[in-house]
Amino acid sequence: MDVQPGPEREDSHVDSDVSASTPLRVALLGAGVVGGAVARHLTERADDMAARVGAPLALVGIAVRRPGRDRSDLGVDPSLVTTDAEQLVTRADLVVEVIGGIEPARSLILRAMEHGASVVTANKALLAEDGPRLYAAAAEHRVDLYYEAAVAGAIPLLRPLRESLAGDEVRKVLGIVNGTTNYVLDKMDTSGAGFEDAVEQAQALGYAEADPTADVEGFDAAAKAAILASLAFHTRVSGSDVHREGITDVTPADVAAAREMDCVVKLLSICERTDAGVSVRVHPAMIPRSHPLAGVRDAFNAVFVEADAAGQLMFYGRGAGGEPTASAVLGDLVAVARHRVGGGLGPGESSYADLPILPMGDAQTRYYVSLDVADRSGVLAKVAAAFAEHNVSIETVRQRMVPDERDGDRHDVGEATGNSNARANLVIVTHAAPDAALSATVESLRTLDVVRGVNSVMRVEGS
Ligand code: HSE
Repeated sequence: MDVQPGPEREDSHVDSDVSASTPLRVALLGAGVVGGAVARHLTERADDMAARVGAPLALVGIAVRRPGRDRSDLGVDPSLVTTDAEQLVTRADLVVEVIGGIEPARSLILRAMEHGASVVTANKALLAEDGPRLYAAAAEHRVDLYYEAAVAGAIPLLRPLRESLAGDEVRKVLGIVNGTTNYVLDKMDTSGAGFEDAVEQAQALGYAEADPTADVEGFDAAAKAAILASLAFHTRVSGSDVHREGITDVTPADVAAAREMDCVVKLLSICERTDAGVSVRVHPAMIPRSHPLAGVRDAFNAVFVEADAAGQLMFYGRGAGGEPTASAVLGDLVAVARHRVGGGLGPGESSYADLPILPMGDAQTRYYVSLDVADRSGVLAKVAAAFAEHNVSIETVRQRMVPDERDGDRHDVGEATGNSNARANLVIVTHAAPDAALSATVESLRTLDVVRGVNSVMRVEGS
């Protein structure tokens, strides 16, 4: 440490006593893309970190699985690298967990807390599965648990929900919290690529994993939605409470249909509080191109928050990547380190509201339905009756003639009338209704003899 107030730093607020303060020992679990970036910043910007915290942060070890790997780019003393994470967490004041997954991350975090360390983690899967247990351990051992990096990477989002909005009533959190799927859907929209091609492009750019299941099936977004809903509504929501649909079934035809509606398809995480309880869901949906979320391109993330007093808030930025995620981790590290220096703790779990989690069938949503129907009298009435039967109100209907590929041999197939093969494409957008009623309507439509095919069904959000 060499933090000296002097002429060249006369505008600095560096406290000359900082370097003399007892260093806080930092253990880093994981030296991948995020861990590496955290280690580099801690090393290269040690003086600034010390000044902001009020004490030096001393990196005392980096736990890795493969010790032989060249880590010279991190600029850390190679002797800090260890495979003994269990021992490392017992000799730290602050533990940063960026290895991900459930185990051994959970055991290591619990062990670190038992030994009195505050924990900063980016582990959304673990928080969504076992957050209350981690919070309970943090409370028992009087340590901090911070996890800004677990949702939407660099975007300051959890701290606003946990702290800035703690006096407000949050009603809705709506966002794009998975960059990989946003990239894939954006490519499908802008280039007409199919799903598989777009995933390959995402993999080539390093956005998608070799096995993209967690992203494309919505598991990653569902874990993040559970964390967001828990904080927003002061209610425990786990990953398994979240209704989850991924983007693997989104076809170029769906994307083209959205374009015709002047909409774009996005994988949305939607957390809503109603009088009946809390609804948390992740699914692809059409949103109007005029909606701010429609302009979220490539692998970026963005989240809308609606609160009673604050009104609408929007958060936007990079949701993944080493440096952006490290930014969130380091912000948390400075926060928990400051508590060590100044005393006190950050907020613990707030689940007092304990609101019921509503089933997906109760969620109020709107549907877009594209049908291939026979074009003859009475068809529209039968289709409309299917909606009415389930008490679903239609907002708009558009009909378009579809050229009949059998026109050329109409006489060969012996049709009695000139228009018996005539087909039309019906596009129906509903008003909001319970999701169960909407899906029952679609099932009824599939059974109608006048419906030759259901081309596309998608929820509509954001208008
Ligand atoms: N795989 C995630 C995404 C980043 O694509 O957004 C880490 O949460």
